[in-house]
Amino acid sequence: MKKEYQHIFEPFTVRRMTMKNRIMMTPMGTNYGESSGEMSFLHINYYEQRAKGGVGLIMVENASVDSPEGSNGTTQLRIDHDNYLPRLFKLTETVHKHGACIGIQINHAGASAQSARTNMQPVSASDIPSKAGGEIPRPLSKDEIMRIVKKYGEAAKRAQIAGFDTVEIHGGHSYLLSQFLSPITNKRTDEFGGSLENRARFARLVIEEVRRQVGPFFPIFLRISADEFMEGGNTLEDSLEYLKYLEKEVDVIDVSCGLNGSIQYQIDANHFPDGWRSYMAKAVKERFGKPCVTMGNIRDPHVAEDILARGDADLIGMGRGLIADPDWVNKVEFGDVCDIRKCISCNVGCAGNRIGVNRPIRCTVNPAVPEGDIYKALKVNKNCNVVVVGAGTAGMEAACTAAEVGCNVFVLEKNDHIGGLSTFISDLPSKTRMKDFPKYLEARAARLKNLYVFLNTEATVDKIKQFKPDIVVNATGSVPLVPPIKGLKENIDAGNVNTIFGMINNVNAGKYPEEACQSKKVVVVGGGSVGLDVIEYFAPRGAECTIIDMLPQIGMLADPITKCSMRETHDKYGVKEYVNTALQEVKENAFTVKLPDGTIQDLTFDYGFNCLGMRSNNPILPELQEAFADTHTYIYTIGDSVRARRIMEGTMEGRAILNVLESQDYLHLEPLE
Ligand SMILES: Cc1cc2nc3c(=O)[nH]c(=O)nc-3n(C[C@H](O)[C@H](O)[C@H](O)COP(=O)(O)O)c2cc1C
Ligand code: SF4
Repeated sequence: MKKEYQHIFEPFTVRRMTMKNRIMMTPMGTNYGESSGEMSFLHINYYEQRAKGGVGLIMVENASVDSPEGSNGTTQLRIDHDNYLPRLFKLTETVHKHGACIGIQINHAGASAQSARTNMQPVSASDIPSKAGGEIPRPLSKDEIMRIVKKYGEAAKRAQIAGFDTVEIHGGHSYLLSQFLSPITNKRTDEFGGSLENRARFARLVIEEVRRQVGPFFPIFLRISADEFMEGGNTLEDSLEYLKYLEKEVDVIDVSCGLNGSIQYQIDANHFPDGWRSYMAKAVKERFGKPCVTMGNIRDPHVAEDILARGDADLIGMGRGLIADPDWVNKVEFGDVCDIRKCISCNVGCAGNRIGVNRPIRCTVNPAVPEGDIYKALKVNKNCNVVVVGAGTAGMEAACTAAEVGCNVFVLEKNDHIGGLSTFISDLPSKTRMKDFPKYLEARAARLKNLYVFLNTEATVDKIKQFKPDIVVNATGSVPLVPPIKGLKENIDAGNVNTIFGMINNVNAGKYPEEACQSKKVVVVGGGSVGLDVIEYFAPRGAECTIIDMLPQIGMLADPITKCSMRETHDKYGVKEYVNTALQEVKENAFTVKLPDGTIQDLTFDYGFNCLGMRSNNPILPELQEAFADTHTYIYTIGDSVRARRIMEGTMEGRAILNVLESQDYLHLEPLE
């Protein structure tokens, strides 16, 4: 064991469970289950990968104790009937084979359930929705509360029978118990409302019932939103108060935070530093002397080690870090931490998919979340030369994947660094985490002796031909879209209006220090992610910001965390939003726009930004197609060169070079169940 990380690798015992190290995978809904609420085999494989990767304890995602009434999300796991036992047992058996412990989070969604899925009005403490614009729930009667208490107990017992080592009761994140705990959603006047003791009564009954069912040797975790980070919600001090009614039968307190309306604190936006929340766990631990879990953007093993060494928490919770890299723990223990594929907290593939649009989780940096990097066992059956044009993230993923299965790979990059757009964007102070992805790709590439990266090298057909390519990957990315709007191009050329590229160059050249932003009028055209990045830079630096979009909402296509974070920033700094608004003309110091009522207005600016999107950029693709027509050389276009999209699609297409290799008879891929 590396001394450097001795606290991470210290075993941890609670009642009759001993974890081999201090890393707990936090519960995260995946949408990998069957629509019946049963686990799928791919789902089991997903958890097995993390167990193999060395994690001490896996806390399986929230499972419903009472469906359909208490269900949450599409294909949520169920634990409210014995039918689910065999598959759950298969899961615990599989995970245990790799030396990991496993628990399951038991939950009732309350007002966060949706009648469209359940066919019934959601229930809660009172008739207050669990999020803005959510459904109005029906307050539970005392008899109903007691019925649900029993359901929790039965679910915990079932978990024990299925071979889990522990259960976690979900008392946070705007689900039923949290709806009772929070003064925002609990307006009751009976013994379940009013004082902190009363609001904690339901959770206390649940904990007591769970203990009755599981007996004295089985550890119980309780997850809470220690600070709800909402106006009128529980503060850390309030939580320390109510915990005194709950802690007796609880063995480990899993100290999370945030509600639906402050989800950027719960599933941390990328600007929060690693481990920023550990002060909350520390406060809980100091007050009750119970082991605590802390989590939140913890990606760096040194940060994890320091938190444990300081004694702020006893366990490090890691969620997205393990979606991005199932081998995080093993890499820290046995390998090189530079090999860790760090989560960049973009929330696109995980929260964006699962919470945003009901898709199964995916990941920007990991193109094989549930199946794992099994392709690494494959080798091409004959020589294959691959030339990759463009060392952006898509190109580098293709290059590394091809080299890992034995191709000879040559990457031609015109810049002096790899990473393309993501390296560039990560120069923004709030986007520095994004740098971790190109850094990882660079380290991965450096280990591959059959992969050669040529920087400062413009790709030409002649140069490419010298490598005798069997496959050419065209990964030349995208450039800002400049639609034919009167005055736009001219004012960009004249430097009156900037794109994100111009802006970042100016930031790097020190042209936008705080004093140059104070009280300046900043107008951004385009309310997508790039436009939001510009506002995120200028608004906190004192600029008067305005953002316009033709769509009915700013950030309409963003993931729920970005949306919530944006709302907080825009409200805090008074950012003006114009929606259903079209750009008509660009002047030297004004955007002329058409408002939804047809009025034409000039929005004057000191700094104007065109963030109307990106378009694919294919400087040599037509030449390549012509040069290699009627040859065996296969041309594979990926990422933004196909169509400007998110980094995630490029990574997926980079990895999908495996399918090209199969189609060209270099490889045989085994289908996964
Ligand atoms: C896709 C997704 C689903 C989540 N589902 C749950 C859940 O089922 N129960 C829960 O308590 N927290 C859930 N969380 C929160 C995580 O457990 C974790 O606390 C949070 O992501 C912060 O930790 P991290 O920065 O290590 O990811 C979810 C997070 C994500 C990204
Ligand atoms: S999609 Fe983004 S936030 Fe989610 S796990 Fe992957 S890198 Fe992290």
